[in-house]
Amino acid sequence: MKALVTGAAGFVGSHLSRRLVNDGHEVVGIDSISDYYDTQHKVRNLQRVIDHERFTFIEEDLGSLPLIPLLEDVDWVFHQAGQPGVRNSWGEDFGNYIQANIQVTQRLLEAARHSPTISRMVYASSSSVYGDAEVHPTDEAVLPRPRSPYGVTKLAAEHLWSLYGTQFNLPTVSLRYFTVYGPGQRPDMAFTRFSRAILSGQPIHVYGDGTQVRDFTYIDDVVEANILVAEQGLEPGIVMNVAGGGFTSVNETLQLLSEAAGREPHIIYAEKVAGDVKRTGGDGSLLRKITGWVPKTSLQEGLEAQLRWAAGEELAPDKTRFAS
Ligand code: UGA
Repeated sequence: MKALVTGAAGFVGSHLSRRLVNDGHEVVGIDSISDYYDTQHKVRNLQRVIDHERFTFIEEDLGSLPLIPLLEDVDWVFHQAGQPGVRNSWGEDFGNYIQANIQVTQRLLEAARHSPTISRMVYASSSSVYGDAEVHPTDEAVLPRPRSPYGVTKLAAEHLWSLYGTQFNLPTVSLRYFTVYGPGQRPDMAFTRFSRAILSGQPIHVYGDGTQVRDFTYIDDVVEANILVAEQGLEPGIVMNVAGGGFTSVNETLQLLSEAAGREPHIIYAEKVAGDVKRTGGDGSLLRKITGWVPKTSLQEGLEAQLRWAAGEELAPDKTRFAS
């Protein structure tokens, strides 16, 4: 199959691209290498896949790149690109969220209407669409009520994705990822920040009292979910949770991390941040029923892998650029 992966230099996009080429597929990866976080992090993400003969990289902005020719002969589209960051989505940067998460998604959907070959389009949605859900584990029938502007844009894009599925029969599916972690995780997310701090003896800043609960989902399990839905016939526009299935507080994750690192963390409890929900927990039974997906990586194993990566064991030290 030929796959288009947007956000290919991102955390999920780079892992997914590597899995696809390793499975024998051809991948066109697109990424604008925006500077929301350190672009060297994205350069390192790309090292997972950049040298592979079945991978082509296009460094362009999806807001202006001509998309119709790109989609002409593509079988699968994995739309992983977007403006991330729950806590930073307030204020004047909101325009970036509208552009990157909503406008670009609509542009991609319109272009896909011209493609004669696409058999699957997967959208990287988010547990943040639920906000502070009243029911846990939360299933897809619960009314989404985002608590952050970021969540609002992800929900809007997800609705567009479903709408183009039902209206134009595009083979769309949205996967609501629950806090994805593992090697390559974004530098603004909790486990990357915590691992770096614990390894360098710096203080860890916890937002609020650390009792907030997350359903953490390991990167390989998220990639597997993408592959399974790509291979499956599905009702257009369907939405499914991708959730690790555990409910762990931030304080508990720090305990696990401290045991894995063999070091005591120096924790500073800071103010709770607007947009940060108290609890997430996904009901993964729909995805399991349809595809047989089950999360395979325990939080302990996954955290150990992330810690090893943070300690620099994952990447060869001489590889610092993707372009020679
Ligand atoms: C994550 C991603 O950042 C979003 O892009 C994604 O959409 C979302 O998951 C999702 O599941 O939908 P979040 O759950 O906030 O959002 O993930 P982390 O950044 O890893 O934070 C986890 C918890 O740790 C949060 O409660 C956060 O407040 C806390 N945290 C984070 C800290 O206490 N200190 C930090 O330095 C960073």
